[in-house]
Amino acid sequence: MAFDFASLVPAGSPPPAVRWPGWAKYNFTFGNNDPDGLAIADLAAAAQTALTREGRRLAEYRLNTGPQGYKPLREFLVKKLKRDAAIDCTADDILIVSGSLQGLDLVNAALLERGDTVICERDCYEGTLNRYTRRGINVVGIPLDQGGMRMDALEEALAGLKAKGVRPKFIYTIATVQNPTATVLGLDRRKTLLALAESYGVPIFEDDCYADLTWSGERPPAIYAMSTSQNVIHLGSFSKTIAPALRVGFVIAPWSILSRLLPLKTDAGSGGLEQMMLAEYCEAHFADHVVDLRKRFRAKLDTLVAALNEQFGTAAEFDYPPGGIFLWVKLPDNVDTMKLRDAALAAGVQINPGPEWSIDKAHSKSRIRLCFASPTHDEIRDGIAILAEVCRKQFGVPTRSSNIERRQA
Ligand SMILES: Cc1ncc(COP(=O)(O)O)c(C=O)c1O
Repeated sequence: MAFDFASLVPAGSPPPAVRWPGWAKYNFTFGNNDPDGLAIADLAAAAQTALTREGRRLAEYRLNTGPQGYKPLREFLVKKLKRDAAIDCTADDILIVSGSLQGLDLVNAALLERGDTVICERDCYEGTLNRYTRRGINVVGIPLDQGGMRMDALEEALAGLKAKGVRPKFIYTIATVQNPTATVLGLDRRKTLLALAESYGVPIFEDDCYADLTWSGERPPAIYAMSTSQNVIHLGSFSKTIAPALRVGFVIAPWSILSRLLPLKTDAGSGGLEQMMLAEYCEAHFADHVVDLRKRFRAKLDTLVAALNEQFGTAAEFDYPPGGIFLWVKLPDNVDTMKLRDAALAAGVQINPGPEWSIDKAHSKSRIRLCFASPTHDEIRDGIAILAEVCRKQFGVPTRSSNIERRQA
């Protein structure tokens, strides 16, 4: 008989994983990148150059460059973030992490304990929400409108919590191309957010991994850049601009925070080859690459929008996003997207149901998140046609698709 490891697992551990069944044929989940958009030859050349010049560094933990990560990569980020996000920092303010998910874990581990309260956008990245659930955190969700997190609602929430004697540990925000709504918090709201954060003594945790992907190439300054009191932790990533499989992200924060994260980063450094390759590649190509990527993603978004309009008509409501890799779609009220997810998967189409991306299950019940970066244009068209058919069979909507009136099955 096989040894029973289950009996050794401490209470409160996450439930066991199920084996990966492979992607569905039409995959609109997971925020993957576009394989055709990867500059593989340039990445290979960058790795070759970096290895030839200083491959001997790989013999040492942390590339002989200290616990905060490969210095040339941090120096690239200093220049890039100054140019694009108005962030004034030095390489010493940056910690390279193994994907921004590790950054989330480190900040959470450093600052949160069971029973704490955190404020975030009401519809929010699933990876962040799951982490709060696992840590037993009370999450207060702030509604969004087309301009991102609503500041009137934030003020009300902060005041309400204060009246109850609760001081949230931080305000977590994906302010620039929010996940899943793709909204961008404008300059005025950023100022208000900072003013509220200061007056209530609550720091801000800014998750900025989509900020390079606005169609216009413009973005408001990072909240980190606008703060005058070192009350912001900034999190970034190369996953959405270069490749998620590299697992390279970064935290920018005052030393009072970095010095708390470093003892918790117990992996003896993030992957060295990835950091060396990225530093080499990004110096020469990053700026041009993201221009190309934005065009690719926007073209795929347009294919998705056309497919939704054709297949769902008015049954699919959404705002055309200013950037990013996903569309947040509202289906008619009778559609339960948790059920739609299962039925669609059985038909080969993978979608994110709204309730997994929101702390308000009723508000998100009929919403779905569709990632459009990795499927091909044909897969987008075919996948949406199948999704519409499944939705019609299950919920009677859309009643029309492809301009053909459908009879109820
Ligand atoms: C808002 C947000 N933060 C963090 C991550 C994690 O990214 P990574 O760990 O690949 O940098 C994601 C990935 O989708 C995300 O959407």
